Amino acid sequence: MNAGDKSPQRWIRPEVQGLTAYHVPDPGRLIKLDAMENPYHWPDALVDEWLEVLRDVELNRYPDPGAAALSAQLKQNMQVPDGMQVVLGNGSDELIQMLALAVAGPERVILAPEPTFVMYSMIATFAGMQYRGVPLAGDFSLDVEAMLAAIADTQPALVFLAYPNNPTGTLFSREAVEAVIQAAPGLVVVDEAYAPFTDASFMPRLGEFSNLLVLRTVSKMGLAGLRLGLLAGPAAWLGEIDKVRLPYNINVLTQASALFALQHQSVLDGQTAQLRRDRAQLFAALEAIDVLEVYPSEANFILFRAPSGRGPALFEGLRTRGVLIKSLDGAGGRLRDCLRVTVGTPEENADFLEALNDVLGHAASVSSTA
Ligand SMILES: Cc1ncc(COP(=O)(O)O)c(C=O)c1O
Repeated sequence: MNAGDKSPQRWIRPEVQGLTAYHVPDPGRLIKLDAMENPYHWPDALVDEWLEVLRDVELNRYPDPGAAALSAQLKQNMQVPDGMQVVLGNGSDELIQMLALAVAGPERVILAPEPTFVMYSMIATFAGMQYRGVPLAGDFSLDVEAMLAAIADTQPALVFLAYPNNPTGTLFSREAVEAVIQAAPGLVVVDEAYAPFTDASFMPRLGEFSNLLVLRTVSKMGLAGLRLGLLAGPAAWLGEIDKVRLPYNINVLTQASALFALQHQSVLDGQTAQLRRDRAQLFAALEAIDVLEVYPSEANFILFRAPSGRGPALFEGLRTRGVLIKSLDGAGGRLRDCLRVTVGTPEENADFLEALNDVLGHAASVSSTA
């Protein structure tokens, strides 16, 4: 390196150079069951009504910086307790980043059980923080003893608990989450991205613990394209976190469209109810395939393990048969040979199962003739 060196290698932080960018595969014409999206759109009449709302949106003006009308509607729909505040983000990803920026310091730690949502560790790196992952127990439940030991050891500024967890689908026990909240010296963020697919929530418990915040998103309930998340909790915390929010982070189209959609929550609720029923069917169908290990899920996806060493081939076999799911094999460790499928429409689920049985049957017939 010399004074004339104008290369990225010289200037980009080494830890950023060491990251692998978050990869989103191009689905092309594949059946897309890789990203926990709701597969349903709205009835035509509702789409027409929404397009009428958009007519009045003033694209030439900056958005309402506090998104007051949308915040009030979200508070109502998501049953944020009275007296609690909310901050909105451009997806809950942005709120995770705002949380990290607000507490960041080179010695400061973000702690989360592993495996979990990868953005917690990536954002720790973006913010120049330390990250500590604590292995989950064998059944992907929270290893409370290990969590409490790591909390005592690292004194984390932030703990993230995805509830239910991604990519395992597990819902940690209420008691285990409470133990973590009580032991943590800093903030505990219960990330309820998959709230529409479970009856459990810590939202009503806000205020009971001074260090508890709840994170939500509209993505999984059917509005992933809008990029909108919500952080709820006591004003003393949220007032500080709001200071690192960029002005106008929720654009006018998102504010108008999300407000409209949330005023028609029953349509979204109908879709989620359907997905919950179809999750049960898909789970039963996967469990009936005896070579697979299938993990119970309270989210809109199911994690399953292929026979040893066959995860990547199963993923590729599905792709060549037109179905895109998520392979977690590359993460290694406990996720070796694991695949995650998002619950789709009944037709998509049937196509996935047909392709899966075909790949497994094909492999079985090859090995029996070998
Ligand atoms: C646990 C968890 N939290 C947050 C997110 C991010 O959601 P979004 O940025 O779409 O709001 C995801 C997305 O997969 C997730 O699994």
